[in-house]
Amino acid sequence: MQTATSRPPFLTRVKTWFWEHYPDLRPRVSGKPGWSGNGMVATLNGTGFMFERRDRFAEAFIAYAAEVRRPVLEVGCAYGVSTIPALERGAIVTASDLDPRHLEILKSKVRPDLLPNLTLKPGALPDIDFPGNHYAAILCSRVLHFLRGEDVDASIRNMAQWLAPGGRLYLVADCPYGIWRRAIPQFESGKANGERYPGLIVGLHNFLATPPAKPIEQPPFMNLMDPDILSRACREAGLEVIDAAFIPRPDFGGKGSMDGRENCGVIAVKPAAA
Ligand SMILES: C[S@@+](CC[C@H](N)C(=O)[O-])C[C@H]1O[C@@H](n2cnc3c(N)ncnc32)[C@H](O)[C@@H]1O
Repeated sequence: MQTATSRPPFLTRVKTWFWEHYPDLRPRVSGKPGWSGNGMVATLNGTGFMFERRDRFAEAFIAYAAEVRRPVLEVGCAYGVSTIPALERGAIVTASDLDPRHLEILKSKVRPDLLPNLTLKPGALPDIDFPGNHYAAILCSRVLHFLRGEDVDASIRNMAQWLAPGGRLYLVADCPYGIWRRAIPQFESGKANGERYPGLIVGLHNFLATPPAKPIEQPPFMNLMDPDILSRACREAGLEVIDAAFIPRPDFGGKGSMDGRENCGVIAVKPAAA
């Protein structure tokens, strides 16, 4: 039985009634998994948000995956913002994520007739393993910045190994030029001094454009990058970089968006066997 003290406050009850009757007017950021319809969907494990709007690197992966019709891999797929449209365009996809709950939600959103073209595999970079020389393309979008430098390098080396000769790697990562803009001085001076990963920030609340009321516990650190850093890691892994650029994300909204350098992306190719 509900007691008077356990009853939600009046304002909460009014809000609950209002959202039930006017769901389209809910606030824009969803804390719930799955498609929110408002652009940002929270992950279940404190690794930020999946954005329903794809950038040009994810779109290029989807187009290539649909064209080649050979197995492709997405690592850190969350709820499938890229895997699902790739499947819908005819791709054969292995989708992988650190969090098996994300994969279950993804699976629940795939059309039943497309399930035979989908393989799910939970696991974490850099230690997860896949068959070597196998995938025509790999997408790893907005995941590498959750890893320390040596693990970023190891992950990209592994992905290069998983690619078939001639295969393409598509990477996207967060930059300091957005929500983490208070990391810019550290990033730029570290880069000028030749540090390999100058964007490693610990205690994320200290780097937000607007300091939050409470410390941020998860993720414990971020490793912000730029096109040069991603390109270097790809070249060191034996790949040829064919595209490297900042990615404008005006849709990040508020102070998440700064000057068109919010994210960075790379496309790199594994040389064909001699
Ligand atoms: C910010 S979301 C990005 C989702 C999607 N790729 C996108 O571009 O919107 C990060 C995703 O990567 C996963 N992830 C984080 N660290 C990972 C790791 N070390 N290995 C594999 N997946 C990881 C998280 O569980 C989460 O689903």
